[in-house]
Amino acid sequence: MSTATQPSPTAAGSGANATEAFRSVRHETADVSPERVSTVVSAVLQGVHQAIRDNDVTYPEFQAAKAWLIEVGEGGEWPLFLDVFVEHVVEEVAARTQQGTKGSILGPYYLPNAKRLPSSTDLPMRADEKGTQLTFTGQVRDVDGNPVAGAELDIWHADDKGYYSGFAPDIPEGNLRGVVVTDDQGRFEIRTMQPAPYQIPTDGPTGALISAADWHPWRPAHLHLLVGAPGHRTITTQLYFEGGEYLDSDVAEATKPELVLSPQEQSDGTRKATYDFVLERG
Ligand code: DHB
Ligand code: FE
Repeated sequence: MSTATQPSPTAAGSGANATEAFRSVRHETADVSPERVSTVVSAVLQGVHQAIRDNDVTYPEFQAAKAWLIEVGEGGEWPLFLDVFVEHVVEEVAARTQQGTKGSILGPYYLPNAKRLPSSTDLPMRADEKGTQLTFTGQVRDVDGNPVAGAELDIWHADDKGYYSGFAPDIPEGNLRGVVVTDDQGRFEIRTMQPAPYQIPTDGPTGALISAADWHPWRPAHLHLLVGAPGHRTITTQLYFEGGEYLDSDVAEATKPELVLSPQEQSDGTRKATYDFVLERG
């Protein structure tokens, strides 16, 4: 099938896949004491109560909210909704104790067990993968400046239409995903295709909320990365592109100025970008 007729992912499809992916990854989950549950849940509820008082929320509005929440659950859209509207603050709190490269949100589209690849590599892609070629190079170092050999860059990103393999129809499994292992100098060179901005599916409840509120559903183009090495704390982050659309209005509020690449246009029409990662011990 040509890319021109590639079907768009539906919200229900993306939501179901994201829910399944979330359940398949062994996320570290908290063993939460009753005191902690009471404290945090009370604070959340007080926030909701206060919003109702401050805005004179009516019964019809309350019932509309209930109907919407039911739809988010039925559509499997909780991973999409929470990662777009809430995760960035959880990351902000985690970042308080993190040195080295800045982190960003994981998002709903990570898949474990991507193909292991050497330090200089093409990312797996279709023979006719559309877009502008992007060569992404750099080095992984520790906080003292020593290169980290054998570090793993688990990288995944959207294609030239903003779609992720595993979450959109007709993209081969593992497309534009891989675990790249750095060389003895901690270096890597990844040849891939420039991703497009990502749009939250507009045909589901999250999309309905965004249009009801007259917001826009876009994230700027980005690369996702988990960068780790034995004895070092894994960094979950994203890299963006200088001058990219929506960089200043990311619906997920997950950009940081330190995470913006400055790609250089090459005479052959491809682009080159460099980024060095710094890992703390832990
Ligand atoms: C969502 C999608 C992304 O690609 C991302 O990086 C973060 C959030 C989402 O649809 O929730
Ligand atoms: Fe993403």
